[in-house]
Amino acid sequence: MIKVAFFDAKAYDKPSFEQYGSLYDLRFKYFETKLNEDTVDLAKGCDAICVFVNDTVNAAVIDRLHEYGVRLIALRSAGYNNVDLPAAFGKIHVVHVPAYSPYAVAEHAIALLLTSVRRIHKAYNRTREFNFSLNGLTGFDFHGKTVGVIGTGKIGRIFIDICRGFGMNVIAHDLFPAKDSGIAYVPLDELLEKSDIISLHCPLTEDTRHLINAAAIEKMKKGVVIVNTSRGGLIDAEALLEGIKARKVGAACLDVYEEEADVFFEDRSGHILNDDLLSRLISMPNVIVTSHQAFLTEEALNNIAETTVKNIRSCFDRDGMCDNELCYRCGKIEQCRKERKEKCF
Ligand code: NAI
Repeated sequence: MIKVAFFDAKAYDKPSFEQYGSLYDLRFKYFETKLNEDTVDLAKGCDAICVFVNDTVNAAVIDRLHEYGVRLIALRSAGYNNVDLPAAFGKIHVVHVPAYSPYAVAEHAIALLLTSVRRIHKAYNRTREFNFSLNGLTGFDFHGKTVGVIGTGKIGRIFIDICRGFGMNVIAHDLFPAKDSGIAYVPLDELLEKSDIISLHCPLTEDTRHLINAAAIEKMKKGVVIVNTSRGGLIDAEALLEGIKARKVGAACLDVYEEEADVFFEDRSGHILNDDLLSRLISMPNVIVTSHQAFLTEEALNNIAETTVKNIRSCFDRDGMCDNELCYRCGKIEQCRKERKEKCF
């Protein structure tokens, strides 16, 4: 029986993990707290830990886990920017769930976009109070608009397909353009200049942090709608707020926020929010915030649990070899994931 400390556990996580855990002989110890230097001791006596996007897996945490004999860090997410992979290399294997439902995220991006552009959030509140006025609810047609997609991986490609269904002109930017995809790739500046809507679907890396900053916003069309369902750090939120106040940015749809770790996923309704920037953004009539909800569909939760449990099982059964391992042997994670045919260390 493999013992797994499960951090940042939520009620909606448990049913699928219990189901697959019992099938694969894993025992989960659920902790509602997030993993960080203060809570890492909870992993003592466990063989593996299971973490999500806002758990802190830095070098100090990794060293303590290594000291306690933890052999595996299993991310139940696709993104892994919260894990110090160079620090883990040679000590603890790291696995993730590369894809669980790219449809869930792409469809949420579209849901946010439609809600924002057609003012559904405002109409919903109005009609509940029998206010049937249409004043201030004017939107715009998607058809014929130009949407710029940054990052054309699994989620970006699905988002593009949906946008094409609306009759939108799609342009895209990616470091590694997908060959023979029929996607019109353009340099980043051109995308910023030409797009009516910009949707972010690239990972957060040192290169992409604050990809959308004051300089980038300056290049955009007046009234641009920005959608971020990837990672909060892709956007300099202060610059975004300034862009909104200057009426340059027409609307923002945010499922992620750079400082979300202490706020998102929790009920803070009875509290005074200390984050003035987030409060100000939420107070804007043209900003919609969801709290990292894009992944949250039944299909995705099932896939996450099944893949995570299989990842853990295969790492222990195959002595550290797992198809979904992230490692830093070559210092280039993307390349490593494509070329690795044996265990990393
Ligand atoms: P993917 O790995 O399939 O695609 C990412 C794409 O971004 C790749 O084509 C890559 O070449 C490109 N890219 C990397 N650096 C870039 C750069 N500097 N400029 C432009 N493109 C760049 O990833 P996938 O599955 O499509 O996910 C995208 C992101 O969505 C993840 O990194 C994650 O942060 C986020 N995500 C958010 C979720 C949510 O619930 N809000 C759930 C799942 C993922």
